Amino acid sequence: MSDKVLVTGGTGYIGSHTVVELQEAGYEVIVVDDLSNSGPEVLENIRKITGIKPAFSRFNLSDQAKTESFFNRHHDIRAIIHFAASKAVGESVEMPLHYYRNNLVSMLNILECQLKYGIPHMVFSSSCTVYGQPERLPVTEATPRKDAESPYGNTKRVNEDILRDAIQAYPQLRGIALRYFNPIGAHPTALIGELPLGVPQNLVPFITQTAAGLRDELKVFGNDYDTPDGSAIRDYINVVDLAKAHVVAIERLLQGKNKAGFEIFNLGTGQGSSVLEIVSAFEKVTGLQLNYRIVERRPGDIEKIWADTTLANQELGWKAEKGLEETLLSAWNWEKRIREL
Ligand code: UD1
Repeated sequence: MSDKVLVTGGTGYIGSHTVVELQEAGYEVIVVDDLSNSGPEVLENIRKITGIKPAFSRFNLSDQAKTESFFNRHHDIRAIIHFAASKAVGESVEMPLHYYRNNLVSMLNILECQLKYGIPHMVFSSSCTVYGQPERLPVTEATPRKDAESPYGNTKRVNEDILRDAIQAYPQLRGIALRYFNPIGAHPTALIGELPLGVPQNLVPFITQTAAGLRDELKVFGNDYDTPDGSAIRDYINVVDLAKAHVVAIERLLQGKNKAGFEIFNLGTGQGSSVLEIVSAFEKVTGLQLNYRIVERRPGDIEKIWADTTLANQELGWKAEKGLEETLLSAWNWEKRIREL
């Protein structure tokens, strides 16, 4: 019998791609999502890809009574991948209490239920945002974290701490925090992808929406950074590659291959790309010309970051495989499908 894995936030962008990879690896998946930033059609699209519609329960995990009742009905869950969270940096500055409640209380509720119902394993969705602007690049997991620039970023940092401290106190718990760099792209079928509500804040959805005619122009935030072309550098990783790392992390925990109760891995490609390089790679692979304009730097942005992926390569035996152009094309194919272009 296959192991049952709970994916919180499983209808979201990274969650849905992870559900697909888990199902394709033979896991039985149950999704919890409040659908605050996604729709139920994602479950049907997962079925179109894998042939299996995952079990689904709709509620918010910061509701303790509902969380408790859910776990009480699902004793057979063996491991949890916890994505469910609010994730808009700007919004978190406007609504810090909402972010702290939603992101931290859900973590506490899940961990308490793990203890109560004997579910040892958690993989937590963290972010390279915990590093701030590192002094040395590429950034390794041993790099000290910096004070967060936003309440959103702080919830990632504090949730890592909550998980670490809980594992320290309760040795029956085991966890892996995965620090994502910049996930982009969509499933090659174009059936699932990133669907931002309102105006996209992230670069690639803004590019694809501009190319699709939904936005007039891309604003490139700053060309006076200390980088070769002056625009800021990030490590953009294909979302399917990222999703596959979660399957490896789950296997590591279920098979007892972890080397410590709490482990942390960077998930990136190890390569940095500037905003202008992303724009020209997008133009090259799609044959389109993107309307863009250089504007002021965006407050809170860092200059450059990319991952040292040695630990994930060696310990997880995982490596990002897809190239930037293939990934940008998948983002464009997804945008075209949802806009019926
Ligand atoms: C942001 C968050 C990060 C979060 C991640 C995923 C900050 C400081 N960091 O990362 O915590 O985990 O999103 O949601 O907000 N850019 C433009 N024009 C645009 C949009 C972006 O030039 O319209 C540039 C940005 O200035 C940046 C790069 O593109 O240099 C990537 O931006 P974005 O996709 O928003 O990701 P991050 O800011 O790296």
